Amino acid sequence: MLDIAFSDASLPASGTIAILAVSGAAPAGALATLDAAVGGALTRAAKATGFGFDAAKTCVVLAPGAGYDRVILVGLGAVDALDGTVAEQAGVAAARALSDAGTSGVVVADGIAPDLTAHVALGVVLGSYRFDSYRTQPRKGNAGPLTAVTVACADPAAAQAAWQPLSAVARGVFLCRDLVSEPANMLRPPEFEQRILALRDLGVEVEVLDRDAMHKLGFGALLGVAQGSDAPPRTVIMRWNGGTDGTAPVAFVGKGVTFDSGGISIKPAAGMDEMKTDMAGAAAVVGTMAALAGRKAKVNAVGVVGLVENMLSGNAQRPGDVVRTAAGQTVEVLNTDAEGRLVLADVLWYTQDRFKPRIMVNLATLTGAIVVSLGVERAGLFSNNDGLAGHLAATGEQTGEKLWRMPMDASYLELLRSDIADLKNIGGRPGGSITAAKFLECFVNDVPWAHLDIAGTAFTSKATSHAPRGATGFGVRLLDRMVGTYYEG
Ligand code: BES
Ligand code: MN
Ligand code: ZN
Repeated sequence: MLDIAFSDASLPASGTIAILAVSGAAPAGALATLDAAVGGALTRAAKATGFGFDAAKTCVVLAPGAGYDRVILVGLGAVDALDGTVAEQAGVAAARALSDAGTSGVVVADGIAPDLTAHVALGVVLGSYRFDSYRTQPRKGNAGPLTAVTVACADPAAAQAAWQPLSAVARGVFLCRDLVSEPANMLRPPEFEQRILALRDLGVEVEVLDRDAMHKLGFGALLGVAQGSDAPPRTVIMRWNGGTDGTAPVAFVGKGVTFDSGGISIKPAAGMDEMKTDMAGAAAVVGTMAALAGRKAKVNAVGVVGLVENMLSGNAQRPGDVVRTAAGQTVEVLNTDAEGRLVLADVLWYTQDRFKPRIMVNLATLTGAIVVSLGVERAGLFSNNDGLAGHLAATGEQTGEKLWRMPMDASYLELLRSDIADLKNIGGRPGGSITAAKFLECFVNDVPWAHLDIAGTAFTSKATSHAPRGATGFGVRLLDRMVGTYYEG
């Protein structure tokens, strides 16, 4: 991860500078100084291009004079709309412009409070993310990733202190993105388990359930999905005990299908490669646990991920098979591609049964139907509890990892009645993301629970306000912030 240092707002004499300012104000502070040093070239360039320091907009001024290679003007938008998320977006924009310039450099953010400066730094880091593990040649026309950025600001010590916890969040987001970006041949359940074991260095307790242990616990639904793959399944439990002893934990549960071929109900070839990201829910849980532990959050938290590969083979599960879940309910598997809910059924039941959590939030790339409903702008929020749903929705608006609550009427459950078992695993095309959520609800008992369907938001085909093209890390900033706001201390 990119190194961030904070310095006071004295400007370097040359090189590349990204300088942040709000809109609708005359140049002040470092911007005024720099503009004067280059004979007003910055204000002239802004005027000539109609640049008005709108939020996260940039204006690149090449060779403005006085020995500077380029100055990148970055907008923070209107001063009364300036919050952490806008600051992050400006940081992302600065990182992109620096990266395009092929240089590390100085980001100047001298006119804002230390807390906002730290969010600028978070944006710079998040915007600098690259997944280059498998490149042996640098990308064409690209000078390589940013490696170090100095943020010049009014109070470097205070900004550094505010950055400390945010740097742990950034590491959690990077971990999540790395896991989602890994190809499925490199990250099957045992490799995923190894990556999670590394969290022990942060003080996270990690426990692993293998096939035998899951068999003893009656995880018939999860094991049914796993049986077509040569890769053995895992359930991995992470515990961060930063809260008061004996306080019920918050619990996060993730769908970790390391590759979803669809199984015998096989998916079409076009786009099937994207199903290497079908473990993004699990990755978000791992990233969240890393963030909480990394910043030593005063909370007891449990993360549980069900890791399986959904493949075809002579031993693969068939459409029409009946499996018995850990909860005791039986499920008729009418479509082997509706596998995420089968994995989660056992893991959700186990998590609430063993840990009796205060709340339980699961994340899953569960349905294509949620992408039809909400596109890639928002993840689906399904919950049996208005308080928890409210906390999640509000935190979504604050962090920009936005959610939209979907209905959960009892009548949707009727669509999941099976002729020969307690439930069937598909409810037909209409309301497909809702029937999937109603299926999960059958396995949460009466714990306050929410399900986030992140099928549309975990992976992006074009850069977003917080992430480059590819894995977004969706969920990590959201859950970290929700814990901080409502469940810590
Ligand atoms: N992993 C998919 C959902 C998905 C689709 C995630 C697109 C990301 C992008 C899930 O396991 C799945 O295959 N769902 C089926 C359910 C259907 C068979 C009821 C779907 O959405 O088509
Ligand atoms: Mn599937
Ligand atoms: Zn899937």
